[in-house]
Amino acid sequence: MASIKVRKAVIPAAGLGTRFLPATKAIPKEMIPIVDIPMIQLIVEEAVRSGIQDIVLVTARHKGAIEDHFDFNYELEDTLDKKNKKDLAEISRSIGKSCNLISLRQKNPLGLGHAVLCAEPAIGNEPFAILLGDDLIDAKIPCTKQLIEVYERENASVVGVMDVPSPEVSKYGIVGGKMLNPKLMEVSHLVEKPAPSAAPSCFAIPGRYVLSSKIFQCLKETKPGKGGEIQLTDGLQLLAERERLLAYQFEGIRYDAGDRLGFIDATLAYALKRPELAPGVQELLKKHLKA
Ligand code: G1P
Repeated sequence: MASIKVRKAVIPAAGLGTRFLPATKAIPKEMIPIVDIPMIQLIVEEAVRSGIQDIVLVTARHKGAIEDHFDFNYELEDTLDKKNKKDLAEISRSIGKSCNLISLRQKNPLGLGHAVLCAEPAIGNEPFAILLGDDLIDAKIPCTKQLIEVYERENASVVGVMDVPSPEVSKYGIVGGKMLNPKLMEVSHLVEKPAPSAAPSCFAIPGRYVLSSKIFQCLKETKPGKGGEIQLTDGLQLLAERERLLAYQFEGIRYDAGDRLGFIDATLAYALKRPELAPGVQELLKKHLKA
């Protein structure tokens, strides 16, 4: 049976962003820019470049700036037009046009699994992608697109994975199972943030998933796990017991932009990729390294 096309994505954006205080006291952490593009826009662009049409944003109180960012801003765009700054006006408008955003709220902070479950009314019975906003993945073929290709070819849910050093497994959801080929694993078990001694492998999930809608029932049955929260990884364990779940080692460089150093790493990498900025950034780096 041919698989149903993946047209929808969920972006959980309900967290408090405590790792970035005080910056996140009054603005959502998703709006912090990498150079001049808010992180959430980079995530939405990955989804759009992967063929996603509808993006379900799971937010919380005080996150209205994200919705405004993906809307039109008539005052700004009209002022820019009148000042003959058409390019800037178009940059602003094109964000509003880029996707169809559906915004829902997670009213209680019960964990990532619960945030994904909040998206069920907007997803229904379709397969969907999940993109976590702290994880930026720079790839020629967007990571989500790579996973959608696996989903559609194998007709099975799939999580993106990367190999991490053993001491780092306790930062991630980790998968274990049988390798089908050097890049593809049939997953039999998953553990959220295990101690290195308890990890089934060093394959970590850096925030990209393409799942069948069966995950919602699994999440409804998932009890609070690590940190007393309903973990997506625990829901995936139930899914793996009920239907085929794959892990795919994607091509691309991942930045943990939710961590201070990871954020600086991402900022430098994205700035150095911009031809108009790269020479200046190189000069600045030289200056600071000399000092
Ligand atoms: C979440 C997930 C974890 C995943 C990680 C990727 O953890 O629970 O399974 O590996 O994102 O960044 P968090 O970093 O939000 O604590």
